[in-house]
Amino acid sequence: MSTRWRWYSLGGDIFGTSMKVLIVGSGGREHALAWCAAKSERISEVLVAPGNAGTHLEPRVRNVQVRDSDIAGLLNLAKHEAVDLTIVGPEAPLVAGIRDAFGAAGLACFGPSAAAAALEGSKSFTKEFLRSQGIPTADFSVIETLEEGRAVIAQMGAPIVVKADGLAAGKGVTICVDEASAERALIEALEGQRFGEAGRKLVIEEFLEGEEASFICLCDGQTALPLATSQDHKARFDGDEGPNTGGMGAYSPAPLVTREVHDRIMREVINPTLAGMAARGTPYQGFLYAGLMITPKGAPKVIEFNVRLGDPETQPLVMRLQGDLIEACLAALNGRLNRIELAWDERPSLGVVMVADGYPGSYAKGERILMQDSQSQEVKVFHAGTHLEHGHLVTSGGRVLCVTALGDTVAEAQARAYESTERIDWPGARYRTDIGYRAVARESMK
Ligand code: AMP
Ligand code: GLY
Repeated sequence: MSTRWRWYSLGGDIFGTSMKVLIVGSGGREHALAWCAAKSERISEVLVAPGNAGTHLEPRVRNVQVRDSDIAGLLNLAKHEAVDLTIVGPEAPLVAGIRDAFGAAGLACFGPSAAAAALEGSKSFTKEFLRSQGIPTADFSVIETLEEGRAVIAQMGAPIVVKADGLAAGKGVTICVDEASAERALIEALEGQRFGEAGRKLVIEEFLEGEEASFICLCDGQTALPLATSQDHKARFDGDEGPNTGGMGAYSPAPLVTREVHDRIMREVINPTLAGMAARGTPYQGFLYAGLMITPKGAPKVIEFNVRLGDPETQPLVMRLQGDLIEACLAALNGRLNRIELAWDERPSLGVVMVADGYPGSYAKGERILMQDSQSQEVKVFHAGTHLEHGHLVTSGGRVLCVTALGDTVAEAQARAYESTERIDWPGARYRTDIGYRAVARESMK
């Protein structure tokens, strides 16, 4: 592999060349992180807690059965195994303070503190923060009672968006086409307690028009180093129809994010976010994922922040990353991101998520999967809900695999990903057949 990093002096780096890394989580994003970490020259072994069958089968990677919500257990594991660096995949342990717990024990953990993770943990905090920093976002009100909610809906009109304040496993957002459905969303959250505690407070906001892009940066508290751009498909069915899911596929780069839009995102969103968090005494260190609406005029508006990498965006991103992600995380922990650059494969990449029939509703588990010749230099199958049962690969979740491919064009990456998908023998599998359609259409217009 080519030299992927341009290093300027990294004096004072306290980390050696035979490091043990712990990845926290069990999804496709964590498989991608573990695969990427295992390629680092600095790494002797990668632990994943709890991981999946894909991480189990990966060379230099070992699963450890500690749940990602068990912060005390993870801390014990890191001490016991003398882990040098922990990278946290999902948001929940970050919001619950894993970074703070590891920091107090003198252990290196890459991810924001609980105070900084409020950028995902509380939508009302984030909206007030965005407003106070003058960062573009949809107009909004925060409400706690039906009366307040009804008044806001009457004043703003439909279409309108109702969001649970706290973490709701990606299900807390209701897009309402008329005022009656907005009122129903209010009642379900406030009286029906549909989101439990997370929905005691709600954000009601203006519906934004445009196209979405995911913009993910590595942050060291002061400086943000943007990763390649990406775009995901949240809706379950082709044509972006049907219920929202965790993500049915993604690709990188996002052609929508031109150089000019990229500059605007850095200037209008990312830099003021880091400056604002630092000024509050809660500097942001970790991956910062801005979910953006790009208006038809190319203006970015923040829909949400996530305090972690995207899933499935990470899978196509790591296929294109030419370099050592571990080095980048270490530089961020040392406050030295301004000294490095990341190189990316010029070729686009695209990932198709294979899900269990019924997802995002209820679905069966324990279905057998047979994989033959589905991987190559250009194709990698990242696992999410998989498990080994007596040596056989079986399903154990809703999102099961992400078949990810590189190509000289988006159309080629797409064709390659779908060809490999068809070579996976799993009769119950379901997937969208149009991942990347907008990028392919843009490409064919050139
Ligand atoms: P969130 O969980 O905040 O990312 O919202 C989930 C999805 O709902 C987003 O990816 C958007 O597709 C959509 N969404 C959220 N807020 C808005 C908004 N203000 N206008 C239009 N679509 C939105
Ligand atoms: N792909 C959306 C997310 O990671 O939140």
